[in-house]
Amino acid sequence: MIDLKTALGEAVAAAFAAEGVPADLARVTASDRPDLADFQSNGALAAAKRLGRNPRDIASAVADRLKADPRLAGVEIAGPGFINLKVADAALSARADAIAEDPRAGAGTVAHPRRVIVDYGGPNVAKPMHVGHLRASIIGESLKRLYRFRGDEVVGDAHFGDWGYQMGLLIGAVCDENAAIAALVEQLNAAGDPGAEIPEAFRGITLADLDRLYPMAAARGKEDPAYRDRARKLTADLQAHKPGCYLLWRQFHDVTQVALERDFHALGVDFDWWKGESDVDHLIAPMVADLDAKGLLVDDQGARIIRVAREGDKRELPPLLVVSSEGSAMYGTTDLATILDRKQGFGFDQVIYCVDQRQADHFEIVFRAACLAGYAAEGQLEHVGFGTMNGPDGKPFKTREGGVLKLNDLIEMTRAKARERLNEAGLGEDVSEAEFEDIAGKVAVAALKFADLQNFRGTSYVFDLDRFSSFEGKTGPYLLYQAVRVKSLLRRAAGESVRAGPVAVGQPTERDLVMSLDAFETALADAYDRKAPNILAEHAYRLAQAYSKFYAACPILQAPDSATRGSRLTLASATLRQLELALDLLGIAVPDRM
Ligand code: ARG
Repeated sequence: MIDLKTALGEAVAAAFAAEGVPADLARVTASDRPDLADFQSNGALAAAKRLGRNPRDIASAVADRLKADPRLAGVEIAGPGFINLKVADAALSARADAIAEDPRAGAGTVAHPRRVIVDYGGPNVAKPMHVGHLRASIIGESLKRLYRFRGDEVVGDAHFGDWGYQMGLLIGAVCDENAAIAALVEQLNAAGDPGAEIPEAFRGITLADLDRLYPMAAARGKEDPAYRDRARKLTADLQAHKPGCYLLWRQFHDVTQVALERDFHALGVDFDWWKGESDVDHLIAPMVADLDAKGLLVDDQGARIIRVAREGDKRELPPLLVVSSEGSAMYGTTDLATILDRKQGFGFDQVIYCVDQRQADHFEIVFRAACLAGYAAEGQLEHVGFGTMNGPDGKPFKTREGGVLKLNDLIEMTRAKARERLNEAGLGEDVSEAEFEDIAGKVAVAALKFADLQNFRGTSYVFDLDRFSSFEGKTGPYLLYQAVRVKSLLRRAAGESVRAGPVAVGQPTERDLVMSLDAFETALADAYDRKAPNILAEHAYRLAQAYSKFYAACPILQAPDSATRGSRLTLASATLRQLELALDLLGIAVPDRM
């Protein structure tokens, strides 16, 4: 069964067609005046304009036809020709029953599923993950889940940043600090076997070492040209698979990945592919040859570039730097080769790059080059950018000391806040320590993710942990709390052997709740088309509010007769299922209690 809005849209379209009025104008939307009607169609106005007729005449002819529809309890004309539709209680009840029985809680799928890659998260080796990667992870994870839920075949790829200049910087810094490692790197570079195991001496290097050395090396690379040149040289050595550099790099790579997987997992973000820039290294030489054969490469002071500027560009786009003058592959080079890899390995219809808006030019350049080279078709590659998470000063969020906040610290901070809130709510005494920790983790994730996803991704927002973690207001914890309340009601109902039964709506809050449940499909379709999880976040919030009003006005277990108890129980469980689904698509899991 399709949602009421779509079904009524079809009925209005049929009535338009029967009146000889263009049916494509017969759009039905939720009513602007829910006190008067459930849905409305403004199509008669546009039709009248197109046909040169009186809008009220069209509207009343269409309305007369619709009056025969048993799903409608009222069809009225308002103002210059709006058609107001009031749904019959029986139709609402039937829709609620269908949603309650549906494991997808009333959600449909797309007519034409696609093969989609979502490139998100984008963590780097050595550079610790910071809040700049937070939004990429949160938004990308949600888009991945949303597409998959709508029926697309979707793969999420972390696209690990592991093959650039920062690797050369780090190799240099580690060698400077440890003469034994430096000697071993030299020795292996001269003689070793690239397939060999990571030597014991390299295995002592920890993530803490990288965290400590990288900022120092990055700063020095900015000031000291000789230091920078050496780092570039080491990057080129790594990319040439010189065994000493390569094996040292493997150690950096492995310790970083372990930590990143832990951080992402704590955030409810899990990738299907942990591919990185380094994974396409073998494709770069043949790709450069191919680009050359296609006449796309231009020599530019020892480097090789692709010019991508077009006639009529509003601002000048720099060329894609394919091979640096040291012979290294650059960020854009690996991105271009990754497109080839994805095409050959997966054969996408679409690749979504969920990355900070500040990289918009980078992607525009790479995408143009990919199209010029015939590696992707126009429109298949899309950058889904987003604004920043800001501090109270309106600038990208920093720690109190002025540094970038590490993702792990942010998660810890949010968990601490969640524990505090849960203790205030008195949860501590009722559950085991392990369960308490699990719940605190879920509350923390809900607080961070919902605060992020409730904004349209293009807008920046201010980080405010106190507000995000409140159990009241438009927050993740509030939504969890509502869902948990329904869970506990359902447990009580089971304990008292109250059984769910067919829905019979009567009370206004029951009608509103079913209208909210019915709106899930529209919210999903819009969120999907506009790549906008905030639409889904809004839906979850409205549903929770509609439930809360229903719960306040309509006793469930205390209802006078068993038919009413059964009906309301069905409404409650349908709400829970849909709310949990919607939250899951935002990447938020609901605990059993809190
Ligand atoms: N590692 C990059 C960064 O931290 C983000 C990678 C995004 N994805 C991509 N295909 N370029 O800025």
